[in-house]
Amino acid sequence: MNYLTLVNKDNKIKDSYYKQVKLIETINVEDEKTEVEEKTYENYLELKEFLKKKNIIIGIDTAYRDEKYQQEIWDDFYETKGEDYCHKYVAPVGCSEHHTGLAIDISLKKNNIFLTDGGDLLKYDEDFKKIHPYLKDFGFILRYPEGKESITGYSYEPWHIRYVGKIPAQIISENNLCLEEYLNGFGGILLVNKEKNMTSFDVVKKVSNILGIKKIGHTGTLDPLAEGVLVLTIGKYTKLGEELTSLEKEYIAEVKQGILTDTLDITGNVIEENNNRIDNLEEILKSFKKTYMQEVPKYSAVKVNGKKLYEYARKNEAVELPKKEVTIKEIELLKKDKDTFSFKTTVSKGTYIRSLIRDIGKSSNCLMTMTSLTRIKQGRFKIEECYSLEDVENGNFKILGLLDIVDYKIIDIDDEMFKKVDNGVVLDNNYDIYDKVIFRYKGKIIAIYKKDVNKLKMYKKIN
Ligand code: DAL
Ligand code: ZN
Repeated sequence: MNYLTLVNKDNKIKDSYYKQVKLIETINVEDEKTEVEEKTYENYLELKEFLKKKNIIIGIDTAYRDEKYQQEIWDDFYETKGEDYCHKYVAPVGCSEHHTGLAIDISLKKNNIFLTDGGDLLKYDEDFKKIHPYLKDFGFILRYPEGKESITGYSYEPWHIRYVGKIPAQIISENNLCLEEYLNGFGGILLVNKEKNMTSFDVVKKVSNILGIKKIGHTGTLDPLAEGVLVLTIGKYTKLGEELTSLEKEYIAEVKQGILTDTLDITGNVIEENNNRIDNLEEILKSFKKTYMQEVPKYSAVKVNGKKLYEYARKNEAVELPKKEVTIKEIELLKKDKDTFSFKTTVSKGTYIRSLIRDIGKSSNCLMTMTSLTRIKQGRFKIEECYSLEDVENGNFKILGLLDIVDYKIIDIDDEMFKKVDNGVVLDNNYDIYDKVIFRYKGKIIAIYKKDVNKLKMYKKIN
């Protein structure tokens, strides 16, 4: 069941929707039969109980409406309030969210009577506003908020609530969005502490399910064996992937001496063994604080002639392994036992730690294999700031915005400049920008521009 189904003037309800929805029958404040989607009803009852304790009594005015019912409402309002009113407050047949069963028009009890009559309810806005802050805790959003009329296509309706699920409701409310913006225009960064035995893509899939957002990317793959900082880009911020991948990374790795595997880590098959051990480890590690050409692992997703290296490896096909320039900026021994040791290192983009470990061994005629790897930092993002998947599932997380992740200068622009930036026009560098600049219009980030000689050119369009 997709609780984020979008139904509006541009998106009619699809026949396929009715196959997944389960409606529960109940009665409304006028003692008439009405239906609500199962989970929506469950959460509505909890909301109702919660508000009762605050001496706010609510009931259902209308919830699920079939097309015939929606037509009656349209005709009724058309006659009594006119066409203009209908366009602002009543959805055309097929375009009403009430067809989903996920929307409820709330009725409030005032002086012992339930208030129901459409537009007149606006008089009681102050009373409805007492309910709004709690909606998200029960998975609801205010579907047609003030200030979003041009996006939702409807006037402010303080009574119309929509079930989307707790996590999306939390993000939508914290970021002051409407459903259209959440599904089509939202962007952010989520820092996850990846667990062992999951692929980076498993994490992406899981978070995508929790948030109900399809477009999610990760910046810098962590193998199943590895854990730690995995930076996810959400929605329109997937465009920033490159920016974040190129950041410097810090790792703690554990190593076993005396064996070499085909994958260069402990998940692989042992292909060589010996008894040589490095005595002067500290010194050897220090000698690796350098820039060198590193051979990429055979078991990696690096492409050669359009085919991934691990595909060659799995089929036992010969292929020359490419070398890439990497920089080991810092490297420090943490702990050493007879056959094992651990170290901490800061490396440039594209460095394989398991290859580095192989190279360290090779330099002293020893065999070494990585047994564990934890990414403790990527750029400015530290492992302590990352959320476990359990945190994400429980809604204990914060999505970061662009301004939390980059230090570029921000320039607020006027209407005239907005037109230029929106069209990607090349600008004179009148702002003394030495790298990148963020242009913001009416509080919204529009684009990042980059210095190019003495001009500024579009780097990434954000909105
Ligand atoms: N009042 C909302 C827009 C509807 O008719 O669905
Ligand atoms: Zn409604």
